[in-house]
Amino acid sequence: MIKHYLLSPGPTPIPNEVALAMSETMIHHRTPQFNKIFEEARNGLKKLFGTKNDVLMLASSGTGAMEASVANLFSPGDKVLVVNGGKFGERWLNISNAYGLNPIELKVEWGQAVKVADVEQQLKAHPDVQGVMIQASETSTTVFHPVREIAKLTKNGPLFLVDRSCLGENPKSKAAAILFRFEPRAQKPAKRLRCVHSCGVSHFRRARFYKNA
Ligand SMILES: Cc1ncc(COP(=O)(O)O)c(C=O)c1O
Repeated sequence: MIKHYLLSPGPTPIPNEVALAMSETMIHHRTPQFNKIFEEARNGLKKLFGTKNDVLMLASSGTGAMEASVANLFSPGDKVLVVNGGKFGERWLNISNAYGLNPIELKVEWGQAVKVADVEQQLKAHPDVQGVMIQASETSTTVFHPVREIAKLTKNGPLFLVDRSCLGENPKSKAAAILFRFEPRAQKPAKRLRCVHSCGVSHFRRARFYKNA
């Protein structure tokens, strides 16, 4: 048998234990047995994300989770501020355009983190902005954006959408400490959860009432 190795920066290879678990007999998804596993996963994800709110699991890749946020939280014509410092910032922009939003692009030189002062300036210039979109880590350039500081700027204002596809990659984060417990041999939890590809997760800190509901 030829063993193929996945050498892309993401998705990363899954551990053998995960691949083997997937070869077990399928269980019925409307049974107490499944509910127990699902609840366990939901509660575990809450701990990982450091939230008491629900974490939504989406049968999609990370891009699908980004798209679901845009599709459900905004309406065509809404003005949003998009931090674009690499391939994935560009993706927020493309999704916003595809859904007919009115994105203001805050372009950041590749390899640089966005400056909090620049975000503040844009928010002052566009007080009607309904959302701010960013990556916690723009993995295409490996830069961490200052999301904590920007979150303070948006506290009582626009929604703040953070793509955390890099969950656990920042060694100082709580998520990294939790993941490290499961994978102590790795220097850091390589590409987050090491689950099968095409599993998106999303969580919200603040409820939003839909304009078109
Ligand atoms: C920061 C970031 N956002 C979004 C994505 C897109 O994820 P996917 O390829 O699962 O759609 C990735 C993928 O590596 C990523 O690193």
